[in-house]
Amino acid sequence: MPYAHITGWGMSVPDAILTNDDLAKIVDTNDEWIRDRTGIRERHIASDHTFPSTLGVAAATRALEVANLAPTELDLIICSTSTPEYLFPATACLIQDQLGATKAGAFDLLAACTGFIFALNMAGQSIKTGAIRNALVIGTETLSRFVNWKDRSTCILFGDGAGAFVLQGREEPGGLLSAVMHSDGSGAQLLTLPGGGARQPATEETVRTGKHLISMDGREVFRFATRAMAQATHEALDAAGLTEDDIRWFIPHQANLRIIESAAKKLKIPMERFVVNVDRYGNTSTASIPIATVEAHQNGVLSPGDRIVFVGFGAGLTWGALVAEWTGPVPVKRHVHPGRYRAFARVRSVLRRILLFLEGLLSRREL
Ligand code: ACO
Repeated sequence: MPYAHITGWGMSVPDAILTNDDLAKIVDTNDEWIRDRTGIRERHIASDHTFPSTLGVAAATRALEVANLAPTELDLIICSTSTPEYLFPATACLIQDQLGATKAGAFDLLAACTGFIFALNMAGQSIKTGAIRNALVIGTETLSRFVNWKDRSTCILFGDGAGAFVLQGREEPGGLLSAVMHSDGSGAQLLTLPGGGARQPATEETVRTGKHLISMDGREVFRFATRAMAQATHEALDAAGLTEDDIRWFIPHQANLRIIESAAKKLKIPMERFVVNVDRYGNTSTASIPIATVEAHQNGVLSPGDRIVFVGFGAGLTWGALVAEWTGPVPVKRHVHPGRYRAFARVRSVLRRILLFLEGLLSRREL
């Protein structure tokens, strides 16, 4: 049975930065309160022309470059997002097209901030069964579009960004070792974006009453989060037959520094072994774990063979953890340039549109 190795990683965040002082000009808050309660100093915010697929494609291209894998070699793309571009089609399909990943099946997965862990596990399982060889897992969000900029208890928390991993089947042991996934829909109302779905389609009333914006019971989510992170970590370690001592790094969902600290305390693990970058990105939901991983790699702290626990929680409610062994960069035997496929994909997309237009003209004439 093959093992599912993490062979590529990439991230992308918008250029624009919104600091706590900037926020204090919009709502009644201040830098000290935000830093004390959340650990956040600033977050990146997407421009009107930047979409989840824009960030997702950029992160994915970097991940493919690291893995030295052509988009055409991908069998599967899973895009985890809570801020899809449309209800349908899936954002994963938009990314698949822009990358030129012509042979990949692509779909979205919605498990909020836990989504990247769920998606990694699903892609890893597909590789381990031998059904596929190469997968791309993307977490991408533009939460700023759904934040209520008048609600100081939520608008301070979120940021935009994307991260991606390439997973590849290999015979050598390593890669994804174990995972646990949990959900409890009885907590659905604690963190929700109620408008725009089949239950409350868009109307003047839903827009007027802010139903298309994030609503959250912060205190309850906080309580749930600390419990869930510790529980999922224990379970994933048990499933891998490992203990906390076997783990080099814990890479948690970056929602709030205080949540990470209290999970670390519950687990009796020193904070030095937790990767934290929530101060500079805020909560980028499903993108936060891959972004933190990419930064940890850039900072030179991840070494091949390091065992890592990825752990997260989010709306749903959902929570989960995944234990992995870091493979590190794969030796390059040939040079693939994944970015070039994007140019082919653009040409193909233009040609397809011209073809559809001509077909339309012809069929109108025939009528
Ligand atoms: N600036 C200043 N004061 C504020 C702000 C602000 N930005 N926000 C709230 N306050 C005030 C409140 O109005 C309240 O004032 P009051 O006592 O006069 O009524 C006071 O501060 C305390 O409010 P609490 O809500 O009790 O503050 P708390 O300490 O719980 O912190 C926070 C709020 C930061 C939201 C916290 O509850 C939290 O982090 N919860 C978890 C949220 C989270 O991680 N969500 C993401 C989940 S992952 C996903 O799926 C997206």
